[in-house]
Amino acid sequence: MTAAIISGKQVSEEIRVEIAREVQELAGRGVQPGLAVVLVGEDPASQVYVRNKEKSCIELGFHSEVHRLDAATSQEELLALVDELNRRDNIDGILVQLPLPKHIEEKAVIDAIAVEKDVDGFHPVNVGNLVIGDDSLLPCTPAGCIELIKRTGTDISGKHAVVIGRSNIVGKPVSLLLQRENATVTMCHSRTQNMAELCRQADILVVAIGRANMIDASFVKPGAIVIDVGMNRLETGKLAGDVDYESAKEVAGHITPVPGGVGPMTITMLMQNTLTAAKRRHGLE
Ligand code: GUN
Repeated sequence: MTAAIISGKQVSEEIRVEIAREVQELAGRGVQPGLAVVLVGEDPASQVYVRNKEKSCIELGFHSEVHRLDAATSQEELLALVDELNRRDNIDGILVQLPLPKHIEEKAVIDAIAVEKDVDGFHPVNVGNLVIGDDSLLPCTPAGCIELIKRTGTDISGKHAVVIGRSNIVGKPVSLLLQRENATVTMCHSRTQNMAELCRQADILVVAIGRANMIDASFVKPGAIVIDVGMNRLETGKLAGDVDYESAKEVAGHITPVPGGVGPMTITMLMQNTLTAAKRRHGLE
């Protein structure tokens, strides 16, 4: 049996209809969610991501600002801009596009963003709140993964989830969110022994390792939900996930494609976070 495709594109569109409706309601109360994106330098991939974020803001009726700074911008200049955006009343969310040029310390910049405007969910206070289960702004890609799993109609509670990859931006937060949904979570990484065997026990398999087509059908339990966070550019120019889709889809119950799976969810969750931040800042939650 071939797996059902989980379309992140379609789920994204459904959520965006909801967000647009809420933006209209807020407009009636004189509130417009505002997102400021800061891009330092001219990394081509970052430029595309930033343009897409700006486009989404405009489509959804958000106030949008993009600050494009020269690659030679100093850390002090960047911190001064973050400070100005922290104080600004028409800005609810601040996103500093990563990676930053080598001479700027990413941690110093992330730490400088106001916790209530940290729509990436990268600030240590938001990460800490996620760990202890308090309200926080959730990191976008992990939140998108959970949303996609839920939209399959599966009750996550009690399921065995295996997460491959332990990065701070995907693997670790995904595992915390799955635990919050009462899954039993196993973390796999580059040093894990018997990885295929562990993965074959997973009702839910989340793959975030950054290696094209690594995970084939031999890692997949029949009927499992497979969420592929990978985005690898092949030499041919084509985009490939971390999962060998053609092989895995013959065994999985549900699977996300690349592109069109987790990718579209990341920006949609960013919009959702900005809306949440706006409502919280205006006491409208
Ligand atoms: N660069 C690639 N992905 C991301 C992201 O989710 N947030 C930020 N700030 N930078 C990124």
